[in-house]
Amino acid sequence: MRRAVCPGSFDPVTNGHLDIFGRASALFDEVVVAVGVNKSKAKSSSRLFSSDERLDMIADAVSPWPNVRVQGFTGLVTDFCREIDAQAIVKGLRGSGDYDYELQMAQMNAHLTDVETVFLMTDPSMSFVSSSLVKEVASFGGDVSGLVPEAVFERLTARLAERQAGA
Ligand code: PNS
Repeated sequence: MRRAVCPGSFDPVTNGHLDIFGRASALFDEVVVAVGVNKSKAKSSSRLFSSDERLDMIADAVSPWPNVRVQGFTGLVTDFCREIDAQAIVKGLRGSGDYDYELQMAQMNAHLTDVETVFLMTDPSMSFVSSSLVKEVASFGGDVSGLVPEAVFERLTARLAERQAGA
């Protein structure tokens, strides 16, 4: 069984992430989307969505692929790969900025373990999409529908409205 892990914080998951999960699902027997669950209160409160909400939104979005599932993890991604017997980490690369950051992580992960990192080039139609930009644009009323799954769009709009009402 060839198993791959797609790790990230996914706050929230975007259509760019989903493109990578779907393409990875065609290359591996099983793909586990691994959501970094931060135990530190300071870090988890900087998220727009709780880890349960992020897991829930991903589970819903990956339901069309029978060989893709989602799981939370704490600690090192390489330890998580060992725990679930995954041979590869799959990540999307949008451009040179991602490459510089991801190369260092891939090399550190290779130093720690024999897990391989596989990079998939982002679909050009998604190369400008990031969770942070989606949140920023949406918070100023910009239209991000089409960049995230519809259910995520609804939850994002509702969460930002709650935050703005409470501010
Ligand atoms: O979506 P993000 O924020 O880029 O995801 C980052 C994530 C969760 C993939 C990365 O921070 C990670 O792998 N964290 C787990 C801790 C770890 O293994 N750190 C060493 C990486 S070389």
